[in-house]
Amino acid sequence: MKELNHPLTFKRNLTIKNRIVMAPMTNKMSFYDGVVTQDELHYYHLRSGEVGAVITAAANVLDNGKGWEGELSVSSDMMIPSLTRLADAIKRNGTKAILQIFHGGRMTNSSVLRGTQPVSASAIPAERENAETPRELEAEEITEIIEAFKQATKRAIEAGFDGVELHGANTYLIQQFFSPHSNRREDEWGGNIENRFKFVNDLVDGVIDIVDSSDVDEFIIGYRFSPEEYETPGIRLEDTLYLVDQLANKDLDYLHISLRDYKLVSISESYQDQRILQYIHEKINGRIPLIGVGDVRTGDDAKSVLNDAELVAIGRAILIDPHWTSKVLSGNEDTIRTYIASQDREELVLPETISSFLEGMMPDRLR
Ligand SMILES: Cc1cc2nc3c(=O)[nH]c(=O)nc-3n(C[C@H](O)[C@H](O)[C@H](O)COP(=O)(O)O)c2cc1C
Repeated sequence: MKELNHPLTFKRNLTIKNRIVMAPMTNKMSFYDGVVTQDELHYYHLRSGEVGAVITAAANVLDNGKGWEGELSVSSDMMIPSLTRLADAIKRNGTKAILQIFHGGRMTNSSVLRGTQPVSASAIPAERENAETPRELEAEEITEIIEAFKQATKRAIEAGFDGVELHGANTYLIQQFFSPHSNRREDEWGGNIENRFKFVNDLVDGVIDIVDSSDVDEFIIGYRFSPEEYETPGIRLEDTLYLVDQLANKDLDYLHISLRDYKLVSISESYQDQRILQYIHEKINGRIPLIGVGDVRTGDDAKSVLNDAELVAIGRAILIDPHWTSKVLSGNEDTIRTYIASQDREELVLPETISSFLEGMMPDRLR
């Protein structure tokens, strides 16, 4: 029986002290060039120490992969001192620091990129308002992007992070290669599902290679994915089961699903019998730990996730109460803060963009 306070040792020998991780959450707090700010260090420090690991906000591996202003960057060696401060702020009382690395692909715009057109697998805009049409990447540029992820991993190691998470979820570039919506290529990087998986495959192998040929003994390589897309064509659960099956055979340390609700059921008619999380966990079948996530508010929610995963990620609940983990683990759940007002922002080190978003979206049961 898995318990929330049980440690877990990953493939590359790193042990985390419990099963709770802080979900990656963009805070838009970095400087214009992606250097971490003092407020951002406070934001992370406040939420570290109790969770087994903190996964940072997405950090861009290349300048043309920047998705929004205020984003963290790991795109050059010049970022290493900034990233070292970030890893130090997180590594407190045994909490491990995992840097989420990504490329925004078509989910950005030429204003954020200072006049440069966004790039993607194909020249197909996202189905959202004001989406710009990206430029299709040349084959040579694709290998350069994979190389950039490898260099970013090297920088994470040098900065003292305990791991990296490849952000293959939430419609960004890695997912754009796997998706039949954004990838209409007819070369070796597109077409059938095997070809659409090639970017993920080469990326994961490349990053594994960099870590295993470095002199770091304990490290985590995780991979995050979104199980379904709503567009047609789009990724369906069946495609994701293929992706997960391939990835579970690789020397990754964990897989991390991205779900807004851990109880979510598929949109595919053929997968209605149980939750998406259960289908994914069954497909993995113990080959690699899975992180479950999505609207976990209470200890019971977290335990319920552990029925179908080895770890649970907590997002908004830890923004609202940085001490959520110790309160759950010590049985003091009745003291969990479930509501924030704008005057709480300073104490919680939350930028206005996040706190107003949280205030607007808190479900009734939180009030
Ligand atoms: C403000 C905010 C920013 C987020 N940024 C990221 C991100 O940078 N990378 C990522 O993989 N997921 C991101 N997410 C998704 C979360 O990791 C998580 O999957 C989601 O919030 C559901 O968990 P929760 O219900 O516990 O908040 C973000 C979520 C929020 C609320």
